[in-house]
Amino acid sequence: RARVRIPHLQAMKDRGETWSMLTSYDMYTAQIFDEAGIPVLLVGDSASNNVYGYESSLPVTVDELLPLVRAVSRSVSRALVLADLPFGSYQESPEQAFRTAARFMKEAGAHAVKLEGGLEMVPQVEKLTRNGIPVMAHIGFTPQSEHQLGGYRVQGRDDAADTLLEEAKALDAAGAFGMVLEMVPAAAARRITEAVSVPTVGIGAGTDCDAQVLVWQDMMGLRTERMPRFVKQYADLATVMTDAAHAFATDVAQGTFPAEEHSF
Ligand code: KIV
Ligand code: NA
Repeated sequence: RARVRIPHLQAMKDRGETWSMLTSYDMYTAQIFDEAGIPVLLVGDSASNNVYGYESSLPVTVDELLPLVRAVSRSVSRALVLADLPFGSYQESPEQAFRTAARFMKEAGAHAVKLEGGLEMVPQVEKLTRNGIPVMAHIGFTPQSEHQLGGYRVQGRDDAADTLLEEAKALDAAGAFGMVLEMVPAAAARRITEAVSVPTVGIGAGTDCDAQVLVWQDMMGLRTERMPRFVKQYADLATVMTDAAHAFATDVAQGTFPAEEHSF
């Protein structure tokens, strides 16, 4: 199967085919999701919470994310690998954004990058796209701004929907190849999806986006805390792994593992 490239993602929108994206931060998930046909794997800054154990997405650094992107890009044969730019690594200037994004491409094999923000990110999106780095935008609820936004809350309700639409149009015009819409009312996400030329990728943004994304540990039930309502649980990995760990410990304690067949 051929490598997924940006024109394929655009063609799917143009044909009305909805596509999927999952996060991935290591070799086995990358191999499995790639083999399962997920066209885009996002090495999200959600690794901050889901890999490194920080309390939010703010602390994770470029140097912590680079090895994860390297592992994922080495492990896929088909999926497009999208690297999140972490908080503080691109907001200062288009030049800073370019330097950081270039590291993800050169040192870790990313095919594209993602950054958070609306109108204020137009110069960054232009700088990257004019210099060969495809960029996905991310608007609505943007976790790196949780303190400015006053916590995890739906963005773009009522009058704010018009502002969100203007941001989406500006990022489209600036050259973004797609945009994540996070925690946006379904009606606002539908208006944006119809208005912009590039694919919208929803998370908590209703049924009408061009694509959908979830964090893999959430949708496969590895994370066991209370989930936001936009998560659907497709597996119960925490239970599978807890049971396996218990069974191993019990076998060892009872002397039933290793058996003859595991011995030389
Ligand atoms: O970091 C992340 O996992 C994300 C997705 C939820 C879109 O940005
Ligand atoms: Na992110």
